[in-house]
Amino acid sequence: MAATEVKDDRKSAALAAQRVKPNQGARVISRFGLAREILRSTEMRQAGAGAEQAPRVDVEHRSVFFLDGEEHKRKRTAIARFFTPKAIGTRYRTVMEHTSDQLLADMRAAGGGRLDTISFELAVTVAADIVGLTDSNQAAMAKRIQGTLFGTYFLHRNAVLRRAAQLVSVVNGLRFFRSDVKPAIRARRKQRREDVISHLIDEGYPDKAILIECMTYAVAGMVTTREFIVMAAWHLFEKDEVRERYLAADEQGQLAILIEILRLEPVAAMLHRRSNADGELLAVSIRDANVDESVVGGCPFAIDLDRPGASPANTYMSFGDGSHRCPGAQVALNETRVFLDRLFRVPGLRLTREPTMSWSDALMSYELRGALVSCSR
Ligand code: HEM
Repeated sequence: MAATEVKDDRKSAALAAQRVKPNQGARVISRFGLAREILRSTEMRQAGAGAEQAPRVDVEHRSVFFLDGEEHKRKRTAIARFFTPKAIGTRYRTVMEHTSDQLLADMRAAGGGRLDTISFELAVTVAADIVGLTDSNQAAMAKRIQGTLFGTYFLHRNAVLRRAAQLVSVVNGLRFFRSDVKPAIRARRKQRREDVISHLIDEGYPDKAILIECMTYAVAGMVTTREFIVMAAWHLFEKDEVRERYLAADEQGQLAILIEILRLEPVAAMLHRRSNADGELLAVSIRDANVDESVVGGCPFAIDLDRPGASPANTYMSFGDGSHRCPGAQVALNETRVFLDRLFRVPGLRLTREPTMSWSDALMSYELRGALVSCSR
């Protein structure tokens, strides 16, 4: 390598550079320190994911993502019990291990499989357990959830196509409601359980508001984790040294490797906030903050498994920061860890087709489709 050449391991950077766009009028924040200050400030309110156009549901029934200030704090405190290290290390871990084993047994019986389908089913099953969407078939639910996102693929097409696609999304949303959300609500009205839907029922949320919260978790927890699992697998397939280190590492070491990959390939590209003080719109660039040399050290674009300052507790800006920081960060990292640890021990495993990378403008995220693996039967 020439002395001046910069080592860049990022797969999604070129596409992101073309496609990531801040909301109109937003000032882009690229430095890690300032990004963190903004996300931690109590003077900022959520302005991402259409927050400012979101339907004005009563504040006490609004999705956690769209709340701010005291109401948001109250909600986060209430749901924190579903995301404790204990819950992740016991109840969800059993789901992660059991589901991974089952999916990989099916894959081995078939002699291979499609990675994004497998990773989506895993992510759906794990998040569904947290949310309480456990009264319907999980594989069928994964398809229905995917169907609700149909409209997001036609954002920049002509109005007729856009309307048609939105209609398909709405129809799929209704099917998701009828087949998955409604049975879950019904079961929990009879007997509450330890999950998000039971909590929403306790709080008097109407069915429509429960559906909106389920959709929030579907996008925030299921879709994001699907992409990350495929991205991490792709790097591990490609880089012998990273894969060998991964398979030899203990759990903390494996988490650290995943965090380093996610640093370079953050699933969420930008977070928007509006200042209460002067109304300014800010777009925090996770992709930029995560490669800020003053924080991550030298060779910021390279996967460095011995990066100084790295620790399983330091996830850079990949899961946001401050009051809205992703509550599911440890869920996502642990389920990816459990699954990949098992996947890469499958005899005869090979990547026979690399994923095709595309971009979702609606989710402002890369998407990896069609990766095929084969293995010994
Ligand atoms: C690799 C996977 C994941 C990534 C990259 C990710 C990323 C993020 C980011 C960046 C935010 C902050 C949004 C903001 O500040 O505006 C967020 C919020 C959120 N995430 Fe995750 N997430 C992942 C997995 C999960 C999982 C597994 C769950 C749940 C099971 C989850 C549930 C949520 C929820 C409910 C919020 C909203 C929190 C709030 O606004 O207070 N996420 N996520």
